[in-house]
Amino acid sequence: MTSALFSPIRLADLELPNRIVVAPMCQYSAADGVATEWHLTHLGMLANSGAGMLVIEATHVERRGRITHGCLGLYSDDCEAALERVVYHCHHIGSAKIAVQLAHAGRKASSERPWEGAKALAANEDPWPTIGPSAVPFGPDWHTPRAMTEEDMAHVTAAFTDAAKRSLRIGFDAIELHIAHGYLLHSFISPLSNKRNDAYGGSFEGRMRFPLEVVRSVRAAVPRSVPLGARITGTDWVEGGLTGDDAVAMGKALKAAGLDYVDISSANITPESRWPNDPGFNVPIAERVRRECGGLAGRAVGMIVTAKQAEDIVAQGRADMIAMARAFLDDPHWAWHAAQTLGAEVARPVQYARTAPKLWPGAAMRG
Ligand SMILES: Cc1cc2nc3c(=O)[nH]c(=O)nc-3n(C[C@H](O)[C@H](O)[C@H](O)COP(=O)(O)O)c2cc1C
Repeated sequence: MTSALFSPIRLADLELPNRIVVAPMCQYSAADGVATEWHLTHLGMLANSGAGMLVIEATHVERRGRITHGCLGLYSDDCEAALERVVYHCHHIGSAKIAVQLAHAGRKASSERPWEGAKALAANEDPWPTIGPSAVPFGPDWHTPRAMTEEDMAHVTAAFTDAAKRSLRIGFDAIELHIAHGYLLHSFISPLSNKRNDAYGGSFEGRMRFPLEVVRSVRAAVPRSVPLGARITGTDWVEGGLTGDDAVAMGKALKAAGLDYVDISSANITPESRWPNDPGFNVPIAERVRRECGGLAGRAVGMIVTAKQAEDIVAQGRADMIAMARAFLDDPHWAWHAAQTLGAEVARPVQYARTAPKLWPGAAMRG
């Protein structure tokens, strides 16, 4: 049996041995944006998960663009040095290619870590001023952002571009822009958060203008040999928000701006904008984007859990790659077990070679 999930794929000049991607996952464990021992352990483990690519969590391009006090950043030499150590470590001990997700939290910045309540930081929690497309808060009891001026936009574009240059120096294999989950770039595109009446609001073209300026500036700094992708929203799941038609239009615009792939996620533009719990809930829109954006590689994420489910999505041409978050936290060797189920080969470190199904009868007993 030949597995589609375990077949190789090429993004720009990067060869991936399989279509399995560890989705970006904030760890809220950085110190002023600087990676810590937690990142070495957590990412070192996932670099040996068997996934072809591991995307490092939302990594913020400026200090005020962090979601929480614990979020990772790439806005200082200290941030760069610590992340370089993490990436060197993952490359040295693991098999996954390593990508970074560059992000700016916009109006959702200055909030508590999930285990602290995930609310806007209170006055005694060292909050900071936030920025967004319009002076409209994420929800009740959230900070009201300052509507960005064109000068602010130029500053943020430069911050994304500088962070991309730092990413190249660090040696990341790929770079991904965060244009989803209600953060700054997505909040410019959604009519629920962008109420501007200048050239950066109004029509879909107007709302796409600033995100596209960022994409073009980053693309100009990243050689075509290095894959540059984006996570976008497939739907806001809210009346009056972005829909699958918008996702297709975004995919076309991002392809024209030179991106190599898109990942289709959804939700989180307002507190009511929640994703469903159905298996593979983003797959139908990911499939549309992949089919209608002429050759733009597409990745699907969201409640993809079993090897058979992941295999079917890729084998049926619904996505070129799949990404998974919680399933990898639950089972950091998910791809080893998927390979066993699908009769495929997967990389595992020589130190752990004796766990391979051919060498360990216990693998067949695990069930
Ligand atoms: C702990 C955790 C942290 C997350 N952090 C990020 C993040 O940094 N960037 C992002 O785009 N999505 C983030 N997500 C969303 C996941 O990447 C993924 O899209 C979502 O969990 C749905 O996939 P799943 O059903 O495989 O978990 C996070 C999810 C979890 C569980």
